[in-house]
Amino acid sequence: MCGIVGYVGKKDCTKVLLDSLQKLEYRGYDSAGVAVFENGDIRISKSKGRLAVLEEKLKKEGWINGSCGIGHTRWATHGEPSDVNSHPHGNARVTIVHNGIIENYQKIKKYLEKKGYVFESQTDTETVAKLLDYYYDGDPMETIRRVLGEIEGSYALGIMFKDFPNTIYAVRRDSPLIVGVGDDEAFIASDVPAILKFTRDYYLLDMDEIAVLKDGNAEIYDVHGIKLEKQLLTADWDMEAAEKGGYPHYMLKEISEQPEAIKTTIIPRINNGMPDLSECGITTQRLLNYQNIFVVACGTAMHAGLVGKYVIEQLARIPVTVDVASEFRYRNPILTDKDLVIVVSQSGETADTLEALRLSKRMGAETLAIVNVKGSSIAREADMVVYTHAGPEISVASTKAYMVQVAVFYLFAFELAYAKEAISEEECKRLTKSLMDIPDIINVVLQQSEQCKYIASKLINSSNLLYIGRGLDYALSMEGSLKLKEISYIHSESYAAGELKHGTISLVTDGMPVIAVATQRELFDKTVSNVKEVKARGATVIFVTHSYKTVESDVADYKIGLPTIDDILMPMPAVVPLQLIAYYTSVLKGNDVDKPRNLAKSVTVE
Ligand code: G6P
Repeated sequence: MCGIVGYVGKKDCTKVLLDSLQKLEYRGYDSAGVAVFENGDIRISKSKGRLAVLEEKLKKEGWINGSCGIGHTRWATHGEPSDVNSHPHGNARVTIVHNGIIENYQKIKKYLEKKGYVFESQTDTETVAKLLDYYYDGDPMETIRRVLGEIEGSYALGIMFKDFPNTIYAVRRDSPLIVGVGDDEAFIASDVPAILKFTRDYYLLDMDEIAVLKDGNAEIYDVHGIKLEKQLLTADWDMEAAEKGGYPHYMLKEISEQPEAIKTTIIPRINNGMPDLSECGITTQRLLNYQNIFVVACGTAMHAGLVGKYVIEQLARIPVTVDVASEFRYRNPILTDKDLVIVVSQSGETADTLEALRLSKRMGAETLAIVNVKGSSIAREADMVVYTHAGPEISVASTKAYMVQVAVFYLFAFELAYAKEAISEEECKRLTKSLMDIPDIINVVLQQSEQCKYIASKLINSSNLLYIGRGLDYALSMEGSLKLKEISYIHSESYAAGELKHGTISLVTDGMPVIAVATQRELFDKTVSNVKEVKARGATVIFVTHSYKTVESDVADYKIGLPTIDDILMPMPAVVPLQLIAYYTSVLKGNDVDKPRNLAKSVTVE
């Protein structure tokens, strides 16, 4: 977590750093800080709270005037959010910003304390700053190399030495870092949106490479100090795509972008009406080899995997196991070279997902990544990659990334089922065509925004609620529940509707909202029975189902009707009202929708 940036050039550096950090606040917003060379000295300004607090402080206490500096936006891991724990860390001689976790910082700290160093903060980062100072002998590259040899864990570091004015050094291991280059200016950043206002050209810094930014240029060296010729990449996202575009929140913008994101993701992968993922390395021969499939991811991406499981098992009849990455990596999973592990990640940098991928590779399984961010660590390390083309997702609560992850699972399931002759070519084409119709169907569902807002107004005073469903609807309920709780702060649980009576129904009290999802025809009547059970105990029921289904008032207090399409494809339109209900509940409660408390979008620590 955390976002780091750096700039060398001719512009007002403090302004550039603040602009860039604003694009990285999704990575954490517990505190922010900058360090800028001013008249040969490194001046630091930092404070607890959002970037806006830092900006105010700079205006009040004096802007730092310079053309080279580093900046940070924090998601606290070691030490509470506070001024003193904010980055940059260091002293007048060496100053750093850090994203990641230094696992052996306690040991280093003890050693440095014995040498007379006094620590101010509780952060792991301060030990790196002090270790750099300890080893500093006038040669920054040599000093950095020594420190890299001693620190363990994950890091992306931006470093400045007072003796080398207007120069930034940058290194990374496991945490992401790019090096942007423009006209007579260069940048470092944790992610591409941070530099888009200034340039679209960048290098991906690889592990243990050292970037040196000075005189408006960036040079990259290997660990032995040999200069490298790296491939210059160009971002295909533009600034507009990374801005709000007139919407009050990124989340609403991203919900509205879903139809377009699906088209951009699936259309290039459909050939003559058939799914075709061959450009991603997925061939019939490979597909026929797999005996078991594992889907490993975190948060919303894991929920996309749950939909994938149902669809793959139903169509292709191959067993699929879904795990959260933090469990999978420590449960000694049974994997062979006949297994496929699909890792799903918007950012491509989630630490647990990345480690689960590495474990799977070590154990001999083939790996496929479904990832949104090009060139991210997960994308680079997986055997095969299907990029979701959702564009930048800024809101911490994931919506469009989920949608396109699910869309990719459909394409994959159709192709796999056809390869295994579990479905005919005709059926495969019919399903693919139905998938292509989904964007228009979602546009219709989006028109129910007002109804979702009305329902949200009925939820804002609740302190608990339940989501229930069966089969695919249960997978959907989990996503609906997560979305609501993460941004509205209302405690919410999702349950398999049939399981309620084994304990959870005792929580139902008068007026408690229960959101029931019933889009699967075969299970409809069974879900209705479960809904009647909670209704009889006083629940206020919000029913999400096909429009044509008549739902009596003894079943539902409020209803959201969905267009009728193949049951198997229902999760795509059905998740939209769940996203909108969560969004409006958060808005009506006056919460910070795009940046919910305690969360960060890209979780690069385990
Ligand atoms: C965080 C975000 C979620 C996201 C999850 C996995 O928890 O808040 O929105 O689903 O990480 O992130 P990834 O980038 O791997 O999809």
